[in-house]
Amino acid sequence: MFTNSGSGSDAPPLAVHASLQALLNGRPPTWTVASEQRHGHMERVALLLDTWAGDLGLPESERLRWRAAGLAHDLLRDADPDELRSHLPLTLADLPGPILHGPAVAERLRIEGLEDGELLTAVAYHTVGDARFGRMGRALYAADFLEPGRSFLPEWRKERRQRMPADFDAVVREVAATRIRNLIERGSRVPPRTLSFWNSMAREAA
Ligand SMILES: [Fe+2]
Ligand SMILES: [Fe+2]
Repeated sequence: MFTNSGSGSDAPPLAVHASLQALLNGRPPTWTVASEQRHGHMERVALLLDTWAGDLGLPESERLRWRAAGLAHDLLRDADPDELRSHLPLTLADLPGPILHGPAVAERLRIEGLEDGELLTAVAYHTVGDARFGRMGRALYAADFLEPGRSFLPEWRKERRQRMPADFDAVVREVAATRIRNLIERGSRVPPRTLSFWNSMAREAA
């Protein structure tokens, strides 16, 4: 279980699940299938999340969770989707190949004993969004798109990074709207989970 306490000088030491602590110490799990470039991407996402959590005034334990989510989310991004599918419960195994890596990482962490439901949901559905996302899930979804190493929409993304985390809700909605619009313009299917995520945010904003 993820049990943390504050990091003040008289606070007890932080206790983090061993899998996350290893990640935070730069030691990814042995089941990782991710290129060097992919690790660079995860580190940039983790840095954004760490910065946002700090700017939001979240406690050190939350910063660690947010950073760990960034470092974990694409650990299986370069694995063969059919291989991932064979290790997933049937309810998840019929997901399209490009989005299987999130649920696959969450499942591995769960098997290793991680019981942090919010983090597992954030990692599992970082590609498509999920109506259950709390602030960390939304932050990961946005950071994955906004991290500075990506080459598309550089000015648009830079402007959103500058507005984070002060304008958190609006920026996450804009990221979701852009990603959904891209799918529609390409003639692709919009996953029901993505529409539920969008509708949950639109309801809040109404
Ligand atoms: Fe991903
Ligand atoms: Fe990613």
